[in-house]
Amino acid sequence: LIEADLLVRGAAELVTCAGPIPRAGEAQGRIGEIPRGAAAARDGRLVFVGPEADLDRKVRALPGAAVLDARGGTILPGFCDSHTHLPFAGTRAGEFHRRVAGATYQEIAAAGGGILSTVRSVRAASEEELVEAARPRLRRLLAHGTTSLEAKSGYGLTEEDELKQLRAVRRLAAEQPAEITATLLAAHTLPPEFAGDREAYVRLVTERIIPRAASERLASACDVFLEAHVFDREESRRVLRAGERHGLAARLHADQLSRSGGAELAAELRALSADHLEHCGPEGRAALAAAGTVAVLLPGATFALMLARYADARALVDAGVPVALATDFNPGTCYTESMPMILTLAVLQMRLTVEEAIVAATANGAAALGRGAEVGSLEVGKQADLIVLEMPDHRHLAYHFGVNPVAAVVKKGRIVAGGAAP
Ligand code: NIG
Ligand code: FE
Repeated sequence: LIEADLLVRGAAELVTCAGPIPRAGEAQGRIGEIPRGAAAARDGRLVFVGPEADLDRKVRALPGAAVLDARGGTILPGFCDSHTHLPFAGTRAGEFHRRVAGATYQEIAAAGGGILSTVRSVRAASEEELVEAARPRLRRLLAHGTTSLEAKSGYGLTEEDELKQLRAVRRLAAEQPAEITATLLAAHTLPPEFAGDREAYVRLVTERIIPRAASERLASACDVFLEAHVFDREESRRVLRAGERHGLAARLHADQLSRSGGAELAAELRALSADHLEHCGPEGRAALAAAGTVAVLLPGATFALMLARYADARALVDAGVPVALATDFNPGTCYTESMPMILTLAVLQMRLTVEEAIVAATANGAAALGRGAEVGSLEVGKQADLIVLEMPDHRHLAYHFGVNPVAAVVKKGRIVAGGAAP
């Protein structure tokens, strides 16, 4: 008999998302559902995943084991939100108000608002204040089913302020259940004190900030905002290459507001992910497919910027690019912690099937986090990170929208939200 300290039973369906990671093409839509599926874990790892009828025959509950009753709901791997700008201070409600009245994101940025407005707030905040501001956000992320996430710096834009953001992330990772992968985004925009000397800022990033973030183990990846009027291809390449030399995986904000060759650059650098891709064309898609780079799509940003052009998710899947979905959670272009909301947008606006969107939000998100071997699917040996949806089967996920369907969250075998949580 298999011994377990956690049993999850009583579900109408369990979705495993089991299989090789990342998942592309036809496999993007394979979720491995088990009717009346159940799961069991020991010491934080899955020891059983299968029909509930087998659970009773094969698994023995250890004394004091926790039993989570899914109450006729659906069990899914925890969401892997592979793109957030979590450690920020302040909000940009005033800007949102102006955008709703017709101003564009780029107009606001050109007038010194946008990213730079959050940079001012972050520079003025202490590490402790950044931690405090992020706590309720992490509570909401977890409550909406996110058990692993990425968190980027990028609102400090000085050596000390970028490291301060990353230290806040490290503290947050240690004090609550969701797992956080930190990304250095010092090349998010040119700080005003370097206006007229772009070269000096690129050198500060490559020669000082990257080496320190790497040697203090504050980040595992490096990201750049490649965009007209932000950083160009050559600057982006230099920053990401410097990151690689220091052991930081490359990620890229690519082709978001215009076609800038971001997808091609991400492929050339064998990046972990190319993110956004609203303006990516056929050459970019072919390059990503050949490199096996994960496309992280962020339909929440398109939605909240009220733009008509969503990333062409169908063409990406059809080209064989593994597609992931993430929130892009940030105060400027996408102020939501909700992965269920992102799934709804992905299905209704980008025309992913519900199954493709589920794989994108779990297994492929895990790949984009560089955590595909540990999280993202429900398979024996992997971490017991799962959620229970108050839904009779997975098809309800994008369909029943605007509500939080997550009834319980399990991280590393512990019930951390809902369910029978203490
Ligand atoms: O992913 N595109 C650049 N960065 C963010 C926006 C950050 C901000 O506006 O504060 C994004 O959309
Ligand atoms: Fe972003």
